Amino acid sequence: DIPVITIDGPTASGKGTLADEVAHALGYAVLDSGALYRAAGLAASRVGVDLDDGEAVAAVARGMELRFAKGRVFLAGEDISDELRLEVSGLRASQVAAHPPVRRVLNQLQLDFRRPPGLVADGRDMGTDVFPDAALKVFLTASAATRAERRHKQLIAKGISANIEGLRQDLEARDARDKTRSASPLHPAQDALMLDNSAQTIDESVAQVLEWWQK
Ligand code: CDP
Repeated sequence: DIPVITIDGPTASGKGTLADEVAHALGYAVLDSGALYRAAGLAASRVGVDLDDGEAVAAVARGMELRFAKGRVFLAGEDISDELRLEVSGLRASQVAAHPPVRRVLNQLQLDFRRPPGLVADGRDMGTDVFPDAALKVFLTASAATRAERRHKQLIAKGISANIEGLRQDLEARDARDKTRSASPLHPAQDALMLDNSAQTIDESVAQVLEWWQK
C-alpha cells in the first residue's frame, strides 16, 4: 500500500508550501489538486466554454493534456504555471469545482499521482473524498486576517500591488462558496488532525506534521 498524507484547508492557509516541504522531507511525490481545478478553469475559458456548464467544462477537463514537471504545470506543452497563480484563475477554479462531473474527471486524474514511495496531496477534499484511506489527514486553518496578509506578501513579492482588505474579502467569499457548495463542500475529514498555523512558522508546521507521521 502506497502511503498518502492529505493536507486540506481553505484558501491561502499555506497548504501548498506545507505539502511541498513535507513531501521533500519524506522523498514523496506531491499533488497540488487545486492546480488541476485552476487548469480546468483556464482551459475551459480559453476555448470559450461557459464555466457554469458542468458537462461542457468536464469534457474540456477530460481532454486536457496536462503535465507536471519540476514544480511547473504544462497545458499542451505550454507552461501555464504563472497564469494559474493569478487570482482570476483561483476564482475560475472555484466556479468549475462546484460541478460534480468536473470533480469526477479530476478525481480520476488525482488518483494517478499515488506512486511509491508515497504521496502528499493538498486540496479541499483529499482526505474526505479522493484518498479516504490516507494514513495521515491534516486539516490546516489560519485566521482570515493571517491568510490575507500571506496572500498580500506573495503578490508584493511578484511585483503585483494589492489591497489587503480586498484580498480578505475575496478569500472569505471563496471560502464561503467552497464550504456551502453541494459537491464536496470543504470540511475536515472525521479522522483529520486540526492544525491552526496562524501563529506558526512554516518550519514549525512541517515539524508538527512529521511528528504526527512518525507516530
Ligand atoms: O491556493 P488556493 O487555496 O487559493 O487555491 P487552490 O488550492 O489552488 O484551489 C482553487 C480552488 O479550486 C478552490 O477555491 C476550490 O474551489 C477548488 N478546489 C477544490 O474544489 N478541490 C480541491 N481538491 C482543490 C481545489
